[in-house]
Amino acid sequence: MKKTPENIYPIFDRLLQREAKEKMLNQKAKALWLTGLSGSGKSTIAQKLEAMLYQKGFYTQVLDGDNIRSGLNNNLGFSVEDRQENIRRIAEVSKLFVNCGMVTINCFISPTKSIRDFAKNIIGEDDFVEIYINAPFEVCEDRDVKGLYKKARAGEIKNFTGLDSPYEAPEQPALEIRTNESTVEEAAQLIFDYITPLLVKS
Ligand code: ADX
Repeated sequence: MKKTPENIYPIFDRLLQREAKEKMLNQKAKALWLTGLSGSGKSTIAQKLEAMLYQKGFYTQVLDGDNIRSGLNNNLGFSVEDRQENIRRIAEVSKLFVNCGMVTINCFISPTKSIRDFAKNIIGEDDFVEIYINAPFEVCEDRDVKGLYKKARAGEIKNFTGLDSPYEAPEQPALEIRTNESTVEEAAQLIFDYITPLLVKS
């Protein structure tokens, strides 16, 4: 159980409840958690997936590493502690959206099992759907969309995931997408097909 800080009196139970908001939106809320290396395709797939869900009338919010790190988390770097704080804030934000009846699509490297479990604990196991966006390191380095692998190899970026900072693949994700074996459309479709039955309000 989370401990409430001293002199703080939360009013969660007195607010309009999630059920009422889900009813209004005619959907069930979930947090989709896309984990994978930088350049694995998380954000690209999320954009496509969001468009597909929108087409079917689902309300969504994409939360993306580079976006969040340019705003809410612009004071955080890539040390173990900062990544942990990054994910803690994101998970709390995601939970707010979920309590509002929304579907969140979270795109964060979230490199370790413990950091993802941390997010899952904050969001709640029933609402957390772990999706592994699996692209081999060499493929991401080869793509190098942002030019970061080159910089990391040159020593200009420290603690780079997969190079001098670890990435632990999820052991039992709800879904695994191999992005070097499928197109963006196919990847988004796989997630869409898996998730939509869970979003439909009975
Ligand atoms: S996380 O590890 O804390 O979950 P997050 O997903 O928020 O990472 O941010 C990752 C993005 O930050 C990458 O896609 C990349 O664009 C950028 N980045 C900058 N420095 C690093 C680094 N040292 N390691 C990984 N990504 C980095």
